[in-house]
Amino acid sequence: MTDTIASDAPGASPDETPTPILRARRLVKTFGRVVGLDGVSLELYPGEVLAVIGDNGAGKSTLIKCLTGAEIPDEGEIFLDGKPVDFKRPQDARAAGIETVYQNLAVSPALDVAANLFLGREKRKKGILGSVFRVVDQKGMREKARAELRELGITTLQDVTVPVENLSGGQRQAVAVARAAAFGSKVVVLDEPTAALGVRESNQVLELIKNLRDRGIPVILISHNMPHVFDVADRIHIQRLGKRAATITPESHSMTDAVAIMTGAARA
Ligand SMILES: Nc1ncnc2c1ncn2[C@@H]1O[C@H](COP(=O)(O)OP(=O)(O)O)[C@@H](O)[C@H]1O
Ligand SMILES: [Mg+2]
Repeated sequence: MTDTIASDAPGASPDETPTPILRARRLVKTFGRVVGLDGVSLELYPGEVLAVIGDNGAGKSTLIKCLTGAEIPDEGEIFLDGKPVDFKRPQDARAAGIETVYQNLAVSPALDVAANLFLGREKRKKGILGSVFRVVDQKGMREKARAELRELGITTLQDVTVPVENLSGGQRQAVAVARAAAFGSKVVVLDEPTAALGVRESNQVLELIKNLRDRGIPVILISHNMPHVFDVADRIHIQRLGKRAATITPESHSMTDAVAIMTGAARA
């Protein structure tokens, strides 16, 4: 296992290595005496899906939280587009273009699909109605919501006026992912997006992840599900006991290899 960028880069010679869109260098995060992250580096390159796998407690969520402003690392550096960033809150990461879909479905059940897509950044009506009286432009939001879902190839949500509580788990997840993708984001991070879903719904979310990548939005996908990871990931970051054990690809390693590295039965 090496810890250099060059050796992890997708198929490039060292001098052609692209700049990672998101890069973490030697992150450390402790919780009292528990070490969540023990000097973890990660690189996300343009145009890729990077999976993060690892056993329970390996530090996957903590790593993602540090990258998305939900936790502040004790040590280490984070770079976005090559520039150092210092997120204090999730809003900071979001403002910088990092959108996160957390493990627990992050939608507001009582609101409809369109309102969920615009949650926290509602379109206001033009003029004094919007600027002073904060009247929401519902028609405009619904039109934009329909266009966004169409562009992402989400065909399971025909009606954007349906309250989200009436949707299936997969449809809700699609709303959460669409929201993450909808606002010119640079990076989308998904923590276990298929954990609560059935086979068909999972496949739809995986298609959605591929669509994001094809639209040029790189994705970090945290997942326990090896077939899902090997289906969509370009590279796979393996966490073990708070450290990066290896970064592999579906071409370089089998699922069995990946599990062996994850559990410490083998080295990369
Ligand atoms: N807020 C917290 N307080 C105390 N310990 C925590 C906290 N968050 C995570 N941990 C600990 O840090 C380690 C890594 O956890 P986590 O990142 O959630 O792992 P994973 O997502 O891979 O299951 C675990 O030992 C976990 O118990
Ligand atoms: Mg977790």
